Amino acid sequence: PLVPLRLLLDHAAENNYGLAALNVNNMEQIQAIMEAADETNSPVIIQASRGARKYSQDAYLRHLMLAAAELYPHIPVCMHQDHGNSPETCQSAIDNGFTSVMMDGSLKEDGCTPADYDYNVQVTKTVTEAAHKQGVSVEGELGCLGSLESGGGEQEDGHGATGELSHDQLLTDPDEAAQFVADTGVDALAVAIGTSHGAYKFTKKPTGDVLDMGRIEAIHNKLPNCHLVMHGSSSVPQELQDIINEFGGEMKQTYGVPVEEIQKGIKHGVRKINVDTDNRMAMTGAVRKLLMQHPEKFDVRDWMKPAREAMKQVCKARMESFGQAGNA
Ligand code: G3H
Ligand code: 13P
Ligand code: ZN
Repeated sequence: PLVPLRLLLDHAAENNYGLAALNVNNMEQIQAIMEAADETNSPVIIQASRGARKYSQDAYLRHLMLAAAELYPHIPVCMHQDHGNSPETCQSAIDNGFTSVMMDGSLKEDGCTPADYDYNVQVTKTVTEAAHKQGVSVEGELGCLGSLESGGGEQEDGHGATGELSHDQLLTDPDEAAQFVADTGVDALAVAIGTSHGAYKFTKKPTGDVLDMGRIEAIHNKLPNCHLVMHGSSSVPQELQDIINEFGGEMKQTYGVPVEEIQKGIKHGVRKINVDTDNRMAMTGAVRKLLMQHPEKFDVRDWMKPAREAMKQVCKARMESFGQAGNA
């Protein structure tokens, strides 16, 4: 069945595990996640960004999600709006069957201008008041995602705040986080600790100065009962970079968030871990490989199938390492 995020995160907190929140844009990605969940007996968070909703159209997405729930009645599935930019976006997600929404008020409605605390509280509170009446969960965000290496400027193809951000804006303040949760009533809080969206997060394997896992612990100490969310948490595995580059791709060497660091976060209240880039890379690598090795093929299924399989393997690996496997 489709269930609210809160239900999954409460169970995860009681049993000390985290859940991957996996982005989708089409049927094959939903199938990859559901097969991975079925094989590992995992509860599922599927999320769609505003861009994904536009690409796939709400009616297709809604019916695909209902199909997933129908085909796998034993697996609880949360359908989550990733990075809602306004109360209107969140309400339209709810109207389209989403069981959870993120109101990202860390940025203004344009999705790139950092917002002040009062604006963030106002839009987020508006959403929690409306969503909770409809049985829908809410994730908020305090602090702007962005690289501590480059002062907030995204290095490539990610999105989030653009331009220079101060060190303070790039790291969530623990006291302010406690105040924000009290002021808004969110079910889960996304925090900024130095991660950024996309593949180009770090120029070398991250150490504590650019990936501040200690901050998670400090926030958790102030907010022991709040579910924390890590965005920008793809690990950008070397083997996926290598496959893409071996078969004609051009990705520069880059580093993501090591799975062991995420596991440390899970020990300190992280319950939802957003992963999109790793699945994009898995699918792209598989398509490149198939079409390079079999240039004669043109049946769509010939390259969609290995792409779906590659994404499924990434999903299974994350479900197992975050501890959600066995908890459906
Ligand atoms: O928010 C980041 C996710 O990776 C979704 O990306 O907005 O390009 O669909 P997107
Ligand atoms: P990645 O780009 O690291 O996969 O992050 C995805 C994300 O945070 C979606 O909200
Ligand atoms: Zn995100």
